[in-house]
Amino acid sequence: VAVFDVATQRITGHALYSQIEAHKAYGGVVPEIASRSQLEKIEVVVRQALDNAQTTIDQIDTIAVTNRPGLVGSLLVGVCFAKGIAFAKRKRLIGVDHLEGHMFSAFLTADGSVNQQLQFPFIAFSASGGHTALYLVTGFGSYQMIGHTLDDAAGEAFDKIAKIIGLGYPGGAAIERLATEAGLQDFFQYPRTKTMPGDFISFSVIAALTPQLQQEVSSSLLVCMGDIFSKSIKRALKRYPDATAVAFVGGVACNKYLRRRLQDVCDEHGKTFVVAPPAFCTDNGAMIAFVGSYKAQQGHFDDLELDVMKNT
Ligand code: KG4
Ligand code: ZN
Repeated sequence: VAVFDVATQRITGHALYSQIEAHKAYGGVVPEIASRSQLEKIEVVVRQALDNAQTTIDQIDTIAVTNRPGLVGSLLVGVCFAKGIAFAKRKRLIGVDHLEGHMFSAFLTADGSVNQQLQFPFIAFSASGGHTALYLVTGFGSYQMIGHTLDDAAGEAFDKIAKIIGLGYPGGAAIERLATEAGLQDFFQYPRTKTMPGDFISFSVIAALTPQLQQEVSSSLLVCMGDIFSKSIKRALKRYPDATAVAFVGGVACNKYLRRRLQDVCDEHGKTFVVAPPAFCTDNGAMIAFVGSYKAQQGHFDDLELDVMKNT
């Protein structure tokens, strides 16, 4: 949950309750545990965000809430809570697409201000546990998908392999640590994705291999992933030469090695490379508040009929 102040164009408060501990024992997210825990914590986290922003609910004009896509139970908790406040306190309501949130998280900086360096059009490379896609972003709220994975999401490939080689859940950060220890070398030469028509990528080929050594597998996986990411961005820049920048977003964008690989491609092509601080790469309220702020300025509001998994 986060508070965005339109007057100063800043995230003024930000709070997060992580459920990783609750899901660890199961090796992945259990939907029922997720929504039950959200129901328990949502009020406390909203209060924390308001306290951090040194404000109260009465000072808030508009409530933006993620209503799509995702686990239905979790989305319902958020949407019902937001509708409750909107109805009781006479606030305006805006449903936000989670993936649009990730895309525009590239504008968020560590002190909560908006990154002025990022200019339209830019290419957003969005990689998380649930999705991996490229977008051409042409304005606030204007974008088109220009490529996507044909199978697993990049984070999903990290998480699956981490589970097989005994690193627990979630796997991305652990794989990065071991890969760094192994010197980021390619020990196994996993097959790289073949060039396919359009901007498609594929990670299933690496997810299917059974590993021997944790460090070497982690290292080879990361180098392989880096090659696929670079190739895919190079192809996108060739097809969309007007793009001024590449924004790397989503939980996988926490990865320092992959950041460096994409930074290198941008340096070669004379493009700006933008990545948000880690707290705004993994799922967070700030990106949803930011999208809500420009939608409010554009007059895109929803009413109390707002539903989960439906476009607004
Ligand atoms: O955006 P996010 O918090 O949630 C989704 O919308 O999925 O992304 C979570 C994903 C997980 O798959 C996790 O393994 C991955 O981001 N991740 C990383 C790193 N930190 C988190 N992947 C690679 N390297 C990391 N350092
Ligand atoms: Zn996400």
